[in-house]
Amino acid sequence: MKKIVFDNYKVMSRAAADIVAQAVRAKSDIVLGLPTGSTPVGMYDELAKDYAEGKVDFSKAVSFNLDEYAGLDGAHPQSYRYFMEQHLFGRVNIARGNTHVPDGVAKDLDKAAKEFDAKIFQKGGIDLFVLGIGQNGHIGFNEPAASMPAYTHVVELAEDTIAANSRLFDDISEVPKRAVTQGLATIMQAKKIILLSSGPAKREAIAKIDSGIITLDCPATVLHMHRDITLLLC
Ligand code: F6R
Repeated sequence: MKKIVFDNYKVMSRAAADIVAQAVRAKSDIVLGLPTGSTPVGMYDELAKDYAEGKVDFSKAVSFNLDEYAGLDGAHPQSYRYFMEQHLFGRVNIARGNTHVPDGVAKDLDKAAKEFDAKIFQKGGIDLFVLGIGQNGHIGFNEPAASMPAYTHVVELAEDTIAANSRLFDDISEVPKRAVTQGLATIMQAKKIILLSSGPAKREAIAKIDSGIITLDCPATVLHMHRDITLLLC
């Protein structure tokens, strides 16, 4: 596991964008794994800038997002599909048909989750996964637990995740209690992973990764088992 500590969020975001843009230039039909949340916003801004300046072309790129709230369709302003439209998809030339966000309103969420994994497999797997990390060490919505499904699945959100995410809703009661998330195995099968973390609220989770002990009490610690992972921190 490599670790790079940056002076500030702007420099970290630029470095993350450089890694993504470089990977897209190296493989135009790259398969990306992508996060939502506050942390990657700066990276998406930088990628949008790169695209506007003709430095990167997403026309053949394919993406698979980490997760989506159950019960929110893509038109809902708090849905992760909507987030991706605002921060990346709507600002670059990625083909919408090549973008995949778990379907939070599928009739059968479990079946849709299985189909999501099958699609990743069909596309040859994820080449580069960008991750964020929750204060409790979650990645995607894989919350601390004694056990969890390996692949994409429906999950009950932890109270602290609901509380952390309520900042984006008018009222905490509006935060969905369930979500669909890629599983740790889905994520770990990516060829390369970068994880972005910014600010003191994440320090405890990062310290658990630094301890070198793997525990599902802090799901991000499993990333130690990946052979090409870099933590970008500030
Ligand atoms: C987002 C996701 C989450 C976030 C994490 C950190 O798609 O899967 O695991 O990466 O909750 O969120 P922020 O960046 O808002 O602190």
